Amino acid sequence: MRLEFPPGFMWGTATAAHQVEGNNRSSDWWAWEHHPKTPVAEPSGDAIDQLNRYEDDIALLAGLGIPVYRFSTEWARIEPTEGEFDQSALDHYRRVTETVSEAGMTPMVTLNHFTLPVWLGARGGWLSPDAPELLARYCSRVVEELGDLVDWYCTINEPGVVAFGGYVGAIGFPPGTTTMTEWDQAIEGLRRGLALSREAVKQSRPEAKVGATHAMIEYESNDAGRPIMEFFRSQMEDRFFAVSGDDDFIGVQTYTRQTIAPPSWTAPIVKALAGNGALRKHALPRLIRNQANLGGEQKKGVRTTDMGYEYRPEAIAATVRRAAEVFPGKDIIVTEHGIATTNDEERVEFMRDGLAALHAVIADGVPLRGYTHWSAFDNFEWALGYRMQFGLIGVDRETQERTPKPSAEFLGRVAQENAVEV
Ligand code: BGC
Repeated sequence: MRLEFPPGFMWGTATAAHQVEGNNRSSDWWAWEHHPKTPVAEPSGDAIDQLNRYEDDIALLAGLGIPVYRFSTEWARIEPTEGEFDQSALDHYRRVTETVSEAGMTPMVTLNHFTLPVWLGARGGWLSPDAPELLARYCSRVVEELGDLVDWYCTINEPGVVAFGGYVGAIGFPPGTTTMTEWDQAIEGLRRGLALSREAVKQSRPEAKVGATHAMIEYESNDAGRPIMEFFRSQMEDRFFAVSGDDDFIGVQTYTRQTIAPPSWTAPIVKALAGNGALRKHALPRLIRNQANLGGEQKKGVRTTDMGYEYRPEAIAATVRRAAEVFPGKDIIVTEHGIATTNDEERVEFMRDGLAALHAVIADGVPLRGYTHWSAFDNFEWALGYRMQFGLIGVDRETQERTPKPSAEFLGRVAQENAVEV
């Protein structure tokens, strides 16, 4: 069967500066990777050297027929010293953006994808009270520089993951604080950052479409698990949704489903935990750190990806439906969806099943406008290093040779036909 997508549907792929460029030495992540006690599997090093190879990479994507390239500008390169903007870095991103446009593609620019300048990281990152204003100042500078070359801006990528990963000690992100207080404080900083960065973009370029990109999970729970599920949804999604009402679009990024189904005898304990301040403060972060299942631990009887996530391509449709319920009528873009696997046939299957499920969502009237797959290239998967392969294009990191996988051709075909065969 052939599933047609609406005219003008935006098909693309995504990357983030730190994961592909290489040598992002002025960033908090670089410092974190080189800390003697780092939880990061290996340093990012040269990454896939996209800093120098962007022309070839963009030509490759254009040749595959994939029209949107979502990439990020790197705050740490643009403002390596507080208050001093590096014009050569700004020029670089202008050239990258021009190259995308000249290839006949559409640039979608993420202004902040996880990394911070090291000077801000040293002050506690999102715990620093001036972080939101500093982000907004940097955003204004970038948007003024890129001018009319860019119509699509993403502000902060996955604020929920930034707070969860870096401030409650869950998945090995900097700055590595571990308490509930810091988690909440980082969430508040990010919420202000979202609002101020949107305003900064709008002020410099009112015509551009701007939105945050939210990490969402398809949750399932039993009665005992419901308070846990609600707690996570609130910390990871809803608190950020609450400041996204004025965004032009909602970016949705989903990789899996999470089932929270503790045995029923735990229900009173969970309830007590949820209500009790001291327990919540001390026990919850520990529980979270023990439960974060990353890096390939296999769940019994469940098909999993190399990340250890449940294999669940359709999860993206469930989360897009949820976003549409929270924001009726607002445009939604799937800004990330992908799978870590060394079996590229599995990636094609994952995309096909995910797209079929999204097609049904559109048929139900949800204004879903685009899909950018994570990721264009195999790249640096944060604390897990280079082991995870999310790319449509493989990269030999010795020679930096690029090899498109069948999944890249699959997405190119889907984009050109604006339809998927299922
Ligand atoms: C992030 C990416 C990351 C991907 C796969 C998202 O959380 O935005 O930077 O590589 O998921 O884990």
